[in-house]
Amino acid sequence: MTSNGKYIVYHGLLCPNKCHSYESLKYAEELKVNDDDIFVVTYPKSGTTWMQEILPLILNGGDLTPVKTIPNWDRVPWLEETRTALVLDHQTSPRAMVTHLPYHLMPHSFFSSKAKVIYVTRNPKDVLVSSFYFHKMANFLDDPGTFDEFLDKFLSGQVIFGKWTDHVKSWQNSDLGDRILYVSYEEMVKDLRGVLEHFSCFLGRELSQEALDRIAKHCCFSNMKTNVMSNYSLVPQEILDNSKSSFLRKGIAGDWKNHFSPEQNAKFTAVLKEQSKGEDIKYNWDE
Ligand code: A3P
Repeated sequence: MTSNGKYIVYHGLLCPNKCHSYESLKYAEELKVNDDDIFVVTYPKSGTTWMQEILPLILNGGDLTPVKTIPNWDRVPWLEETRTALVLDHQTSPRAMVTHLPYHLMPHSFFSSKAKVIYVTRNPKDVLVSSFYFHKMANFLDDPGTFDEFLDKFLSGQVIFGKWTDHVKSWQNSDLGDRILYVSYEEMVKDLRGVLEHFSCFLGRELSQEALDRIAKHCCFSNMKTNVMSNYSLVPQEILDNSKSSFLRKGIAGDWKNHFSPEQNAKFTAVLKEQSKGEDIKYNWDE
């Protein structure tokens, strides 16, 4: 591990040192994973915060108390971040965590455990747009520069947690059988209620139709945007500057169409297709 200005370089991946430390990454490596642990895995800006809202609700039968009283980072902590040890100590079973780590950097004991994973992907063009605005507001990250400059950084993997294609490939090839459920951000936008049924079935939680309706209603974008426990407005402005952009910004699929020029779209698609060569990354690039 090396340190590089605002980032720690961990196995070649940039992690912001505002919330990652050598100790926290070591803690993640050595975490004793329980068989009933649940991990939500995402590449940054793919719907992590959304899952930090959904998961506790599914696990507690739709009781809204925790999502209205506990900030998302303490509700479903980040595996690799500095607060994790503190939070996990107080969690009851089953523990739920989120992570941006690629498959091979998961805790050593994860591989022999029965812990389950929900892997959320998002159209990388929308990931790029969301990340661009996030870099503008997050003072602990480098300024993104122009959209064109940031697009190049993204394509070459000089962004937090590296290349999108490497992340997706690592989890797609993870060989976890029925321990992993793949879902896309776009499916969640289209039919959250339907996706919630898949989650509850995958996690072995039977929920009434009424509870599922309540969760879907609570987790819609407009509701989450005003939930101070989820919209990051509790974070001081010098860390996350909401006057530059909101963390919960637009919450739609296809915003890339408002940002990409035809040339940028052609370049992005060509580079990602090249990086995905030989792999079966199923994505509707034009969605
Ligand atoms: P946008 O910037 O496109 O709006 P992450 O939590 O992984 O950092 O991802 C953040 C993205 O997820 C942001 O995308 C955010 O608005 C979106 N998001 C969060 N909650 C959402 C919800 N309930 N519905 C739709 N999108 C949501």
